[in-house]
Amino acid sequence: MAAAFAYVRSGHVAADIGCDHGKLSAALAGSGRCPLVLACDLRPDPLEKARRRCAPYGDAVQCRLGDGLSVVHPGEAEDIIIAGMGAETVIEILEAAPWVFDARYNLVLVPATKHSVLRRWLARRGFALLGETLCQAAGRWYAVMNARYAGTEHEPDGLECLCGQTEGQPGFSAYCAQQNIKLKKYRLGLAPGAEADAVDALIEELEKRACL
Ligand SMILES: C[S@@+](CC[C@H](N)C(=O)[O-])C[C@H]1O[C@@H](n2cnc3c(N)ncnc32)[C@H](O)[C@@H]1O
Repeated sequence: MAAAFAYVRSGHVAADIGCDHGKLSAALAGSGRCPLVLACDLRPDPLEKARRRCAPYGDAVQCRLGDGLSVVHPGEAEDIIIAGMGAETVIEILEAAPWVFDARYNLVLVPATKHSVLRRWLARRGFALLGETLCQAAGRWYAVMNARYAGTEHEPDGLECLCGQTEGQPGFSAYCAQQNIKLKKYRLGLAPGAEADAVDALIEELEKRACL
């Protein structure tokens, strides 16, 4: 949460999509970092938790019930946090809101799973990864990503998808080991052929890069 908080720009209205317990929304509003936070969730129960947690901050937090960014008007919030959902859900939410394909929006993304899938999508859809912070929680490594639309699409290579901008950070080797376990599981499901050979080469490259 602290890493996500740090990527939110001071003085900007933020939308916390999938706010759940509302801890980040409360921190952004309570600290004065954001003049207004839109705390949004798909489900009423989590939103109610957020509403209670954020009550002390009055009008500085608005709670909204609904799917993804459908409850945020274009331009209403310029800093958008989507944390704690699988990469596919994060992608669906962004694809459903084409207005975020604009450099004015600062995205803070914390995929719960499939980090590589999200990095590949960002690169292919023209988003630049401005920064990433590795964090460990409950024994798992997460990458907190800061992305902004740059309009330059590119096809990322395997290592870019697996590691993004995390090289050199504390925990890099452990993070790569976690990525490597997933890659090896994926490799097990492949029949002999070009894709299997490419994945073998990528595993070797990853192990060399992270000294595994
Ligand atoms: C695991 S919690 C993450 C909470 C918090 N963002 C965090 O990172 O600690 C995921 C939350 O996302 C919400 N959620 C899932 N899909 C969503 C969607 N399409 N739109 C909005 N919220 C969604 C769930 O209801 C749940 O409250």
